[in-house]
Amino acid sequence: MSNFSDGEAFGRVNLMGEHLDYNQGCVIPLQINKSVNVHVKKDSTIEGIKIRSENFDQEIFTSVSKKKLNDWADFIKGSLYLFGKKYNLNICQLCIEVKSNLPIGIGVSSSAAVTVSTLRALYSLYNKEIKNSELVELAHSVEKDFVGVAGGVMDQFASIYGSQNQALFLDTKSNNYDLIKLSEEYVFLIIDSGKQRILTDGSLNLKKEYCKKISNKLNVENLCILDEVDDHHRKVLTNEELDLAKHVIYENQRSKLGKIALLENDFKTFGTLMTQSHNSLRDLYRVSTSELDLLVELCNSFGSLGSKLTGAGFGGAIVTLIKKELVEDLKMFIVENYPNAKFL
Ligand code: GLA
Repeated sequence: MSNFSDGEAFGRVNLMGEHLDYNQGCVIPLQINKSVNVHVKKDSTIEGIKIRSENFDQEIFTSVSKKKLNDWADFIKGSLYLFGKKYNLNICQLCIEVKSNLPIGIGVSSSAAVTVSTLRALYSLYNKEIKNSELVELAHSVEKDFVGVAGGVMDQFASIYGSQNQALFLDTKSNNYDLIKLSEEYVFLIIDSGKQRILTDGSLNLKKEYCKKISNKLNVENLCILDEVDDHHRKVLTNEELDLAKHVIYENQRSKLGKIALLENDFKTFGTLMTQSHNSLRDLYRVSTSELDLLVELCNSFGSLGSKLTGAGFGGAIVTLIKKELVEDLKMFIVENYPNAKFL
Protein backbone atom coordinates (compact mmCIF):
# COMPACT_ATOMS: atom_id res chain seq x y z
CA MET A 1 0.00 0.00 0.00
CA SER A 2 1.35 3.42 -0.90
CA ASN A 3 2.59 5.56 2.03
CA PHE A 4 1.86 2.74 4.40
CA SER A 5 4.34 0.69 6.41
CA ASP A 6 3.31 -2.93 6.36
CA GLY A 7 3.50 -5.89 8.70
CA GLU A 8 2.35 -9.44 8.07
CA ALA A 9 2.14 -12.42 10.42
CA PHE A 10 0.84 -15.97 9.92
CA GLY A 11 -1.37 -18.11 12.10
CA ARG A 12 -0.61 -21.60 13.34
CA VAL A 13 -2.21 -24.93 14.06
CA ASN A 14 -0.94 -26.73 17.13
CA LEU A 15 -0.23 -30.39 16.38
CA MET A 16 0.73 -31.49 19.88
CA GLY A 17 1.29 -30.16 23.38
CA GLU A 18 -1.93 -28.38 24.28
CA HIS A 19 -1.99 -26.13 27.37
CA LEU A 20 1.69 -26.79 27.94
CA ASP A 21 3.28 -23.48 27.04
CA TYR A 22 2.18 -21.87 30.31
CA ASN A 23 3.42 -24.99 32.12
CA GLN A 24 6.89 -24.80 30.56
CA GLY A 25 6.35 -27.90 28.45
CA CYS A 26 7.00 -28.87 24.82
CA VAL A 27 4.69 -27.95 21.95
CA ILE A 28 4.60 -28.66 18.20
CA PRO A 29 2.87 -25.90 16.23
CA LEU A 30 2.89 -25.60 12.44
CA GLN A 31 2.46 -22.25 10.72
CA ILE A 32 -0.49 -22.06 8.30
CA ASN A 33 -0.81 -20.20 5.06
CA LYS A 34 -3.26 -17.62 6.38
CA SER A 35 -2.17 -14.29 7.74
CA VAL A 36 -3.04 -10.90 9.13
CA ASN A 37 -1.79 -7.80 7.33
CA VAL A 38 -1.48 -4.48 9.11
CA HIS A 39 -0.76 -1.22 7.30
CA VAL A 40 0.17 1.88 9.29
CA LYS A 41 0.72 5.45 8.17
CA LYS A 42 1.09 8.86 9.76
CA ASP A 43 -1.96 11.04 9.16
CA SER A 44 -1.95 14.64 10.38
CA THR A 45 -5.73 14.95 9.87
CA ILE A 46 -6.32 12.58 12.81
CA GLU A 47 -5.65 13.53 16.41
CA GLY A 48 -5.26 10.12 17.95
CA ILE A 49 -5.38 6.68 16.33
CA LYS A 50 -7.78 5.44 13.68
CA ILE A 51 -8.04 1.67 13.31
CA ARG A 52 -9.98 0.25 10.40
CA SER A 53 -10.75 -3.42 10.07
CA GLU A 54 -11.89 -4.68 6.70
CA ASN A 55 -13.12 -7.97 8.16
CA PHE A 56 -15.27 -6.39 10.86
CA ASP A 57 -16.20 -3.51 8.57
CA GLN A 58 -15.50 -1.27 11.54
CA GLU A 59 -13.62 1.92 12.24
CA ILE A 60 -12.42 2.75 15.75
CA PHE A 61 -11.02 6.04 17.01
CA THR A 62 -8.87 5.72 20.08
CA SER A 63 -5.68 6.96 21.69
CA VAL A 64 -2.59 5.25 23.03
CA SER A 65 -3.20 4.55 26.68
CA LYS A 66 -3.36 1.73 29.17
CA LYS A 67 -7.15 1.64 28.93
CA LYS A 68 -8.57 -1.41 27.17
CA LEU A 69 -11.41 -1.30 24.66
CA ASN A 70 -12.42 -4.87 25.47
CA ASP A 71 -12.62 -5.99 21.88
CA TRP A 72 -10.45 -7.22 18.99
CA ALA A 73 -8.66 -3.88 18.69
CA ASP A 74 -7.01 -4.36 22.11
CA PHE A 75 -4.23 -6.42 20.54
CA ILE A 76 -3.47 -3.40 18.34
CA LYS A 77 -3.91 -0.88 21.12
CA GLY A 78 -1.66 -2.97 23.38
CA SER A 79 0.99 -3.16 20.66
CA LEU A 80 0.94 0.63 20.23
CA TYR A 81 1.08 1.17 23.97
CA LEU A 82 3.99 -1.20 24.68
CA PHE A 83 5.91 -0.14 21.57
CA GLY A 84 5.54 3.54 22.59
CA LYS A 85 6.60 2.72 26.14
CA LYS A 86 9.65 0.74 25.04
CA TYR A 87 10.97 3.57 22.84
CA ASN A 88 9.54 6.47 24.81
CA LEU A 89 7.49 7.67 21.85
CA ASN A 90 4.30 9.68 21.89
CA ILE A 91 2.32 7.69 19.34
CA CYS A 92 -0.54 9.62 17.76
CA GLN A 93 -1.88 10.73 14.37
CA LEU A 94 -1.77 7.20 13.00
CA CYS A 95 -4.08 5.50 10.58
CA ILE A 96 -4.07 1.71 10.82
CA GLU A 97 -5.70 -0.72 8.39
CA VAL A 98 -6.11 -4.39 9.25
CA LYS A 99 -6.88 -7.12 6.75
CA SER A 100 -6.93 -10.81 7.45
CA ASN A 101 -7.74 -14.13 5.83
CA LEU A 102 -6.95 -15.88 9.11
CA PRO A 103 -10.20 -16.81 10.88
CA ILE A 104 -10.74 -15.28 14.31
CA GLY A 105 -11.63 -17.21 17.45
CA ILE A 106 -11.17 -20.75 16.18
CA GLY A 107 -7.80 -21.58 17.75
CA VAL A 108 -5.42 -20.72 14.91
CA SER A 109 -3.74 -17.87 16.76
CA SER A 110 -5.30 -14.80 15.19
CA SER A 111 -4.52 -12.75 18.31
CA ALA A 112 -0.79 -13.36 18.09
CA ALA A 113 -0.87 -12.73 14.33
CA VAL A 114 -2.63 -9.35 14.80
CA THR A 115 -0.11 -8.39 17.46
CA VAL A 116 3.00 -9.49 15.57
CA SER A 117 1.85 -7.87 12.33
CA THR A 118 1.06 -4.59 14.14
CA LEU A 119 4.47 -4.58 15.81
CA ARG A 120 6.20 -5.35 12.51
CA ALA A 121 4.38 -2.46 10.85
CA LEU A 122 5.39 -0.14 13.71
CA TYR A 123 9.04 -1.23 13.52
CA SER A 124 8.97 -0.43 9.82
CA LEU A 125 7.22 2.94 10.25
CA TYR A 126 9.56 4.12 13.01
CA ASN A 127 12.65 2.62 11.36
CA LYS A 128 13.59 0.53 14.34
CA GLU A 129 15.03 -2.95 14.61
CA ILE A 130 14.45 -5.75 17.05
CA LYS A 131 15.77 -9.28 17.41
CA ASN A 132 13.23 -12.04 16.83
CA SER A 133 13.61 -13.35 20.36
CA GLU A 134 12.74 -9.89 21.75
CA LEU A 135 9.82 -9.53 19.34
CA VAL A 136 8.40 -12.79 20.74
CA GLU A 137 8.65 -11.36 24.27
CA LEU A 138 7.14 -8.00 23.31
CA ALA A 139 4.21 -9.62 21.46
CA HIS A 140 3.64 -12.00 24.36
CA SER A 141 3.65 -9.10 26.79
CA VAL A 142 0.88 -7.38 24.76
CA GLU A 143 -1.32 -10.44 25.25
CA LYS A 144 -0.35 -11.13 28.86
CA ASP A 145 0.14 -7.69 30.37
CA PHE A 146 -2.14 -5.48 28.27
CA VAL A 147 -5.01 -7.69 27.13
CA GLY A 148 -4.74 -9.98 30.15
CA VAL A 149 -5.00 -13.42 28.56
CA ALA A 150 -2.63 -15.79 30.27
CA GLY A 151 -1.45 -18.13 27.51
CA GLY A 152 2.20 -19.02 27.06
CA VAL A 153 4.62 -18.05 24.36
CA MET A 154 3.74 -20.68 21.73
CA ASP A 155 1.61 -18.55 19.40
CA GLN A 156 3.99 -15.61 19.20
CA PHE A 157 6.93 -17.98 18.77
CA ALA A 158 5.20 -19.94 15.99
CA SER A 159 4.26 -16.74 14.20
CA ILE A 160 7.84 -15.47 14.28
CA TYR A 161 9.98 -18.63 14.02
CA GLY A 162 7.49 -21.04 12.41
CA SER A 163 7.39 -22.55 8.96
CA GLN A 164 4.59 -23.87 6.76
CA ASN A 165 6.20 -27.15 5.74
CA GLN A 166 8.19 -27.81 8.88
CA ALA A 167 6.68 -28.45 12.28
CA LEU A 168 8.21 -26.36 15.06
CA PHE A 169 9.19 -28.33 18.14
CA LEU A 170 9.52 -25.80 20.95
CA ASP A 171 10.58 -26.36 24.53
CA THR A 172 8.87 -23.43 26.23
CA LYS A 173 11.10 -23.70 29.30
CA SER A 174 14.31 -22.87 27.43
CA ASN A 175 12.81 -21.58 24.15
CA ASN A 176 15.11 -24.03 22.33
CA TYR A 177 13.47 -25.18 19.14
CA ASP A 178 13.88 -27.42 16.07
CA LEU A 179 12.14 -27.30 12.72
CA ILE A 180 11.11 -30.74 11.44
CA LYS A 181 10.46 -31.24 7.73
CA LEU A 182 7.08 -32.85 7.04
CA SER A 183 6.32 -35.48 4.41
CA GLU A 184 4.24 -34.30 1.46
CA GLU A 185 2.23 -37.53 1.50
CA TYR A 186 0.23 -36.41 4.54
CA VAL A 187 -1.87 -33.37 5.32
CA PHE A 188 -2.78 -31.75 8.62
CA LEU A 189 -6.28 -30.59 7.72
CA ILE A 190 -7.96 -27.97 9.92
CA ILE A 191 -11.72 -28.20 10.33
CA ASP A 192 -13.63 -25.37 11.98
CA SER A 193 -16.63 -26.49 14.04
CA GLY A 194 -18.37 -23.16 13.49
CA LYS A 195 -18.60 -22.57 17.25
CA GLN A 196 -16.36 -19.65 18.15
CA ARG A 197 -14.52 -19.43 21.39
CA ILE A 198 -13.62 -16.30 23.25
CA LEU A 199 -10.47 -16.44 25.31
CA THR A 200 -10.84 -13.07 26.91
CA ASP A 201 -13.66 -14.55 29.01
CA GLY A 202 -11.10 -15.89 31.47
CA SER A 203 -11.39 -19.64 30.90
CA LEU A 204 -7.72 -19.96 29.91
CA ASN A 205 -6.61 -17.80 32.84
CA LEU A 206 -8.51 -20.06 35.23
CA LYS A 207 -6.76 -23.17 33.91
CA LYS A 208 -3.40 -21.47 34.26
CA GLU A 209 -4.12 -20.44 37.85
CA TYR A 210 -5.21 -23.97 38.62
CA CYS A 211 -1.96 -25.41 37.26
CA LYS A 212 0.04 -22.93 39.35
CA LYS A 213 -1.91 -23.95 42.44
CA ILE A 214 -1.23 -27.63 41.75
CA SER A 215 2.52 -27.10 41.27
CA ASN A 216 2.61 -25.16 44.54
CA LYS A 217 0.86 -28.01 46.29
CA LEU A 218 3.35 -30.48 44.83
CA ASN A 219 6.23 -28.14 45.56
CA VAL A 220 7.55 -28.11 42.00
CA GLU A 221 8.41 -25.12 39.84
CA ASN A 222 6.05 -26.32 37.10
CA LEU A 223 4.12 -29.48 36.29
CA CYS A 224 6.26 -30.39 33.28
CA ILE A 225 9.17 -31.16 35.60
CA LEU A 226 7.30 -34.31 36.58
CA ASP A 227 7.52 -37.56 34.55
CA GLU A 228 4.56 -39.34 36.01
CA VAL A 229 1.76 -39.21 38.53
CA ASP A 230 2.62 -41.15 41.69
CA ASP A 231 0.96 -42.15 44.99
CA HIS A 232 2.06 -38.96 46.73
CA HIS A 233 0.30 -36.89 44.05
CA ARG A 234 -2.81 -39.04 44.36
CA LYS A 235 -2.81 -38.38 48.09
CA VAL A 236 -2.41 -34.61 48.11
CA LEU A 237 -4.44 -33.61 45.07
CA THR A 238 -8.20 -33.52 44.64
CA ASN A 239 -9.59 -35.61 41.76
CA GLU A 240 -9.97 -32.56 39.58
CA GLU A 241 -6.42 -31.40 40.28
CA LEU A 242 -5.11 -34.88 39.59
CA ASP A 243 -6.83 -34.91 36.19
CA LEU A 244 -5.32 -31.57 35.21
CA ALA A 245 -1.87 -32.69 36.36
CA LYS A 246 -2.19 -35.96 34.44
CA HIS A 247 -3.05 -34.12 31.26
CA VAL A 248 -0.07 -31.78 31.54
CA ILE A 249 2.45 -34.46 32.49
CA TYR A 250 1.44 -37.04 29.86
CA GLU A 251 0.79 -34.44 27.15
CA ASN A 252 4.38 -33.30 27.59
CA GLN A 253 5.52 -36.88 27.03
CA ARG A 254 3.32 -37.08 23.93
CA SER A 255 5.03 -33.97 22.55
CA LYS A 256 8.46 -35.54 23.03
CA LEU A 257 7.32 -38.83 21.47
CA GLY A 258 5.61 -36.85 18.72
CA LYS A 259 8.87 -35.15 17.83
CA ILE A 260 10.58 -38.55 17.44
CA ALA A 261 7.69 -39.86 15.36
CA LEU A 262 7.86 -36.87 13.01
CA LEU A 263 11.64 -37.18 12.67
CA GLU A 264 11.17 -40.84 11.74
CA ASN A 265 8.30 -40.09 9.35
CA ASP A 266 6.16 -42.34 11.52
CA PHE A 267 2.80 -40.68 10.91
CA LYS A 268 0.85 -43.64 12.25
CA THR A 269 2.35 -43.11 15.70
CA PHE A 270 1.94 -39.35 15.44
CA GLY A 271 -1.75 -39.80 14.60
CA THR A 272 -2.27 -42.10 17.58
CA LEU A 273 -0.67 -39.50 19.84
CA MET A 274 -2.97 -36.81 18.42
CA THR A 275 -6.09 -38.77 19.31
CA GLN A 276 -4.69 -39.54 22.77
CA SER A 277 -4.10 -35.83 23.19
CA HIS A 278 -7.70 -35.06 22.22
CA ASN A 279 -9.08 -37.65 24.63
CA SER A 280 -6.98 -36.18 27.42
CA LEU A 281 -8.16 -32.63 26.59
CA ARG A 282 -11.73 -33.91 26.62
CA ASP A 283 -11.66 -36.12 29.73
CA LEU A 284 -8.91 -34.70 31.93
CA TYR A 285 -8.34 -31.06 31.03
CA ARG A 286 -12.00 -30.65 30.05
CA VAL A 287 -11.69 -28.03 27.34
CA SER A 288 -13.43 -29.87 24.50
CA THR A 289 -16.99 -29.46 23.27
CA SER A 290 -19.48 -31.95 21.80
CA GLU A 291 -18.92 -30.43 18.32
CA LEU A 292 -15.14 -30.92 18.51
CA ASP A 293 -15.58 -34.48 19.83
CA LEU A 294 -17.94 -35.27 16.97
CA LEU A 295 -15.55 -33.93 14.33
CA VAL A 296 -12.68 -35.95 15.81
CA GLU A 297 -14.80 -39.10 15.80
CA LEU A 298 -16.00 -38.55 12.25
CA CYS A 299 -12.47 -37.99 10.92
CA ASN A 300 -11.07 -41.02 12.72
CA SER A 301 -13.94 -43.27 11.61
CA PHE A 302 -13.31 -42.16 8.02
CA GLY A 303 -9.66 -43.14 8.14
CA SER A 304 -7.62 -40.26 9.53
CA LEU A 305 -4.51 -41.40 11.36
CA GLY A 306 -5.53 -39.23 14.30
CA SER A 307 -7.28 -35.98 15.24
CA LYS A 308 -7.44 -33.47 18.06
CA LEU A 309 -8.81 -30.08 18.96
CA THR A 310 -6.26 -27.36 18.33
CA GLY A 311 -5.44 -24.32 20.46
CA ALA A 312 -7.15 -23.66 23.73
CA GLY A 313 -10.39 -25.55 23.00
CA PHE A 314 -13.76 -24.34 24.34
CA GLY A 315 -14.95 -24.39 20.70
CA GLY A 316 -13.04 -23.56 17.54
CA ALA A 317 -11.34 -26.07 15.29
CA ILE A 318 -9.81 -29.53 15.14
CA VAL A 319 -6.82 -30.76 13.19
CA THR A 320 -6.78 -34.16 11.56
CA LEU A 321 -3.90 -36.10 10.02
CA ILE A 322 -4.84 -37.74 6.74
CA LYS A 323 -3.17 -39.14 3.62
CA LYS A 324 -3.15 -36.45 0.94
CA GLU A 325 -5.03 -38.60 -1.60
CA LEU A 326 -7.96 -38.98 0.85
CA VAL A 327 -8.44 -35.30 1.70
CA GLU A 328 -11.24 -34.51 -0.78
CA ASP A 329 -13.21 -37.65 0.14
CA LEU A 330 -12.84 -36.83 3.83
CA LYS A 331 -14.16 -33.32 3.23
CA MET A 332 -17.25 -34.71 1.48
CA PHE A 333 -17.83 -37.18 4.29
CA ILE A 334 -17.54 -34.45 6.93
CA VAL A 335 -19.92 -32.08 5.13
CA GLU A 336 -22.52 -34.86 4.85
CA ASN A 337 -22.34 -35.51 8.57
CA TYR A 338 -21.52 -32.04 9.89
CA PRO A 339 -22.83 -29.46 7.43
CA ASN A 340 -21.48 -26.47 9.39
CA ALA A 341 -17.88 -27.60 9.05
CA LYS A 342 -15.46 -25.25 7.33
CA PHE A 343 -12.07 -26.31 5.99
CA LEU A 344 -8.98 -24.14 6.14
C1 GLA B 1 -4.11 -20.49 23.44
C2 GLA B 1 -2.92 -19.74 24.02
C3 GLA B 1 -1.63 -20.53 23.81
C4 GLA B 1 -1.77 -21.95 24.35
C5 GLA B 1 -3.02 -22.61 23.77
C6 GLA B 1 -3.28 -23.99 24.35
O1 GLA B 1 -4.01 -20.57 22.06
O2 GLA B 1 -2.79 -18.48 23.39
O3 GLA B 1 -0.57 -19.85 24.41
O4 GLA B 1 -1.80 -21.94 25.76
O5 GLA B 1 -4.17 -21.80 24.00
O6 GLA B 1 -2.30 -24.89 23.97
